[in-house]
Amino acid sequence: MTEKSTDYGRLLIGDKLELFAEAARLAEAHKAGSDSPNFTWAFTGGSTPGAWYRWCADNHILSTETLATTHFTVSDERCVLLSSDESNFGNAERLLLAPTGVPVEHRHPWVVAYEPEEAAEAYRRTMQLLNPPGKAYDVCFLGMGDDAHTASFFPGSELLENDGEVFFAAVNTPQKGWRLTITPTGLQACGLIVVMTLGAGKAAALKRVLEGTDDLRDAPSKILRTCADRVVWLVDEAAAAELSS
Ligand code: 6PG
Repeated sequence: MTEKSTDYGRLLIGDKLELFAEAARLAEAHKAGSDSPNFTWAFTGGSTPGAWYRWCADNHILSTETLATTHFTVSDERCVLLSSDESNFGNAERLLLAPTGVPVEHRHPWVVAYEPEEAAEAYRRTMQLLNPPGKAYDVCFLGMGDDAHTASFFPGSELLENDGEVFFAAVNTPQKGWRLTITPTGLQACGLIVVMTLGAGKAAALKRVLEGTDDLRDAPSKILRTCADRVVWLVDEAAAAELSS
């Protein structure tokens, strides 16, 4: 892998399996160096995590200790049933948490049966029970869309301007409807943020985020500049193709 330093965090460029392995290694190393009584690890949605879950489960990548003691959740969610293949937590559970035997009491979905604002409040309370004040997650995985969104911060999102200084919120976006998501304030309260960005479809967005002059509202992943000291981008050659060398 090659490494670059950017204003938005460390950038590691490699092939898919190197990046998959690095994602697991970074999280495991962060856990090994942590004294959190409840170590929390949030996954995200999209196609990349699905492939990563399968690879981790099939190849027994995560340690027995990590699987037995970590509290797992997702950093954003759609307002759908867990049984839906649109459910970010549902997918994590089906593809990784259940096959690897993560204890059910360590699985923390958003409570999507509630109205979105109530669901966000219920989730804030759950995370407050798990975490000391001032912490959102120990490890937060994110992806980036080809429109440069991350988590559920879509272009124009009001959360980028004002998130009410809570760690988790419900947001109604014109394009996507209601989503539940970590907020920019929440990102500030994570120990490690890993952004997996794979494929040629991400190349233009990655260029805009890391090297472009777009406004934050147009390229929401630029929010990661505010916590760059804790961010690692895992990027394949196709996604990195437009970056200057
Ligand atoms: C989601 C996530 C979203 C995702 C990106 C990347 O639930 O879809 O909120 O931010 O991480 O869209 O998705 P891919 O992994 O499919 O590229």
